[in-house]
Amino acid sequence: MDRITTKITPSKCQTSILFLFIAPPFSNTPYSQSHLKLFLSTILNLAMNCPADWPEPIVRVQSLSETGNLMIPDRYIKPLSQRPSFNTRSDSLNIPLIDLFGLIHGDTATKKAVMDQISVACREWGFFQVVNHGMSHELVEEAREVWREFFHQPMEVKQEYANSPKTYEGYGSRLGLQKGAILDWSDYYFLHYLPSNLKDHKKWPSHPPFLRDVIEDYSQEIVRLGKLLLKVFSTNLGLEENHLEKAFGGDNNIGACLRVNFYPKCPQPDLTLGLSSHSDPGGMTFLLPDEHVSGLQVRKAGEWITVKPARHAIIVNIGDQIQVLTNAMYKSVEHRVIVNPDKERVSLAYFLNPKSDVLIGPATKLVTSKTPALYQPMTFDEYRLFIRMRGPQGKSQVESLKSPR
Ligand code: OGA
Ligand code: NI
Repeated sequence: MDRITTKITPSKCQTSILFLFIAPPFSNTPYSQSHLKLFLSTILNLAMNCPADWPEPIVRVQSLSETGNLMIPDRYIKPLSQRPSFNTRSDSLNIPLIDLFGLIHGDTATKKAVMDQISVACREWGFFQVVNHGMSHELVEEAREVWREFFHQPMEVKQEYANSPKTYEGYGSRLGLQKGAILDWSDYYFLHYLPSNLKDHKKWPSHPPFLRDVIEDYSQEIVRLGKLLLKVFSTNLGLEENHLEKAFGGDNNIGACLRVNFYPKCPQPDLTLGLSSHSDPGGMTFLLPDEHVSGLQVRKAGEWITVKPARHAIIVNIGDQIQVLTNAMYKSVEHRVIVNPDKERVSLAYFLNPKSDVLIGPATKLVTSKTPALYQPMTFDEYRLFIRMRGPQGKSQVESLKSPR
């Protein structure tokens, strides 16, 4: 949707949101960088004072699914061009599978061979799955199953954690603030792990009782794996080993947050999506997929490829911030989720992000006369706000950061 015609009460905050949506889509707008900056800082200021609420009453997709209705409400029916396609031609294709055992335990030559596989996967796919990542299978499985249990609790229990667009933390059912938007067939839970001052256990569910401990351990492991891969990426790019970690704000400043996605059964899966096409706004993502149900699709050369997760694998993908830092040598790739008529699906998307207020721009070493800087620096805070107001929009967000030519 490009334009909103619905009348809204012009409170200070809503006026800014209206401004955001009556503006033409950024992807094909010749805004100057200074206009973009001014615009973003205005929005940032207004958002700080926002009466933090959703533009419409929230409906839990899980409740809709549980009614047993055979038709989904119109709000979830996607335009024809966005509906799922099931491409049999690309059935045999899958994202690269990389065994990290050699990287963690191997000699120099073995390490180098794994690093080369990662390098190819980053340049050609922006998506890969890793096995032998060093995380215990029990922990990983428990992490997914405590969340499944959370979503199977009575609605009153979950509602205690209902989220608002101010921070998104807690139990949510929509992304973006566009009134009248077509919604995705999913609920989610969002929480912060790092920086530590943002971590607030009170905002994590207290039930099931082990959830906080399990998620604490799982988070620690993900951050460890994330830091290892940031080193690998830096070295592969010909940068100092610590370059990306430093660009993210340094060891103690990296951000880490978790979105647990719950995709309920859907009676009309060919009309909707569990999660619309998007690229991840942050640095990199570690996705723990459902062992039993596939659903993630990745766009490759214009086609949607359904990811077939390997046993015990974690899926890694490049986010918009690494695309900017690498001057698009690594690209954040569009992906989306399809839903299923008789199976629910639970996935854990862990986002590793730069510190919110450091400027993110292309690494100087990667900017040459042949590869001039594609992006103007912007902080992750500014970028994320922009995304949170618009909801999933394919790759138009990172494309809009491109410097004018
Ligand atoms: C996400 C995401 C994919 C999935 O949460 O950003 O892309 O399979 N999730 O749930
Ligand atoms: Ni994603």
